Amino acid sequence: MAILVLGGAGYIGSHTVYELIDASYDVVVVDNLETGYLQAVHPKCRFYQGDIRNRDFIDSIFNAEAIDGVIHFAANSLVGESMSHPLKYYDNNLCGTKVLLESMVAHNINRIVFSSTAAIYGEPEQVPIVESAPAHPTNCYGETKLAMERMIHWTSFAHDLKFVCLRYFNACGAHFSGEIGEAHNPESHLIPLILQVSNGKRSEISIFGNNYNTKDGTCIRDYVHVTDLAQAHILALDYLIKGGDNAIFNLGNGIGFSVNEVIETARRITGHPIPAKVVPRRPGDPAKLVASSQRARDILGWKPQFSDLEVIISSAWKWHKSHPDGFQDNVNVVALQNKSWE
Ligand code: UFG
Repeated sequence: MAILVLGGAGYIGSHTVYELIDASYDVVVVDNLETGYLQAVHPKCRFYQGDIRNRDFIDSIFNAEAIDGVIHFAANSLVGESMSHPLKYYDNNLCGTKVLLESMVAHNINRIVFSSTAAIYGEPEQVPIVESAPAHPTNCYGETKLAMERMIHWTSFAHDLKFVCLRYFNACGAHFSGEIGEAHNPESHLIPLILQVSNGKRSEISIFGNNYNTKDGTCIRDYVHVTDLAQAHILALDYLIKGGDNAIFNLGNGIGFSVNEVIETARRITGHPIPAKVVPRRPGDPAKLVASSQRARDILGWKPQFSDLEVIISSAWKWHKSHPDGFQDNVNVVALQNKSWE
């Protein structure tokens, strides 16, 4: 069973590839390496560098490989950047998905698992959030992901294509081997930023507001381990392969942790005092985002294994301690040369 993973050199994509390989799938990875890293690509997959906006390129992959299903992560995903460069997000996220779908239809590839986000909900009216909640994105990133979902929906309506959209809450943690982990440039996510303080890379963590209507005044999020997210993709693929109908699933633990709780847990795990300073709210941050993932549990049989915040932060710390500069300054050239690209 050959699976094409678009964006397989990125954070969630690379972790999903590791789980697919462990589950004995034949994996083909495509990535333009604009934000992904070659070092994150599993050595046992076939890797092609290229951009999904290039129809000839994506056609050449479907001509060369007998693909049974596609997992689509290839997109820009930084909320802040999407607000300052909206057209970059429309171009890469929407145009890329359009070309991909055209090529899939032309090659009769009829299963896609799509990487969506809780950002499509915007400020929720009710928590925990269910999939039928209104979608009112408050940033351009969420807007493009919602439009990608709709593009896949209407393509499915017109053609022989089945899809699963997975709406992630706050992806975090790292592969337990310590080989791959979270690396964004620039970094904007809470847990990596906190661990940069423990690593001596920054002097303190900023807390974006402590006057929200929450238990300690700081924002609450549903932190879900990237390996649990990766497992959900495999379950979603199996679901489609067994003839499952189009579906959308939230992926979160259903447990909310405040910014203060995350910092406190990181202090315990790293043994570093992690100085914190309260600064003004970050525009667009909802007070509380927590998922209901009951549908994924009931229909896919998804059971997150690593919902303990200590386990999440310990795995992230293992990665950050051994890769204080992410992937860039840590290229093991010999290991890379030994990677078995075909
Ligand atoms: N935060 C701080 N200080 C920081 C960074 C973050 O206090 O230096 C706070 C934020 O205000 C927020 C929480 O920590 O309350 C988590 O922030 P992140 O930037 O790590 O994550 P977000 O919740 O903003 O967004 C994440 C993903 C998005 C996705 C969204 C869906 O980054 O891609 O979850 O809920 F869309």
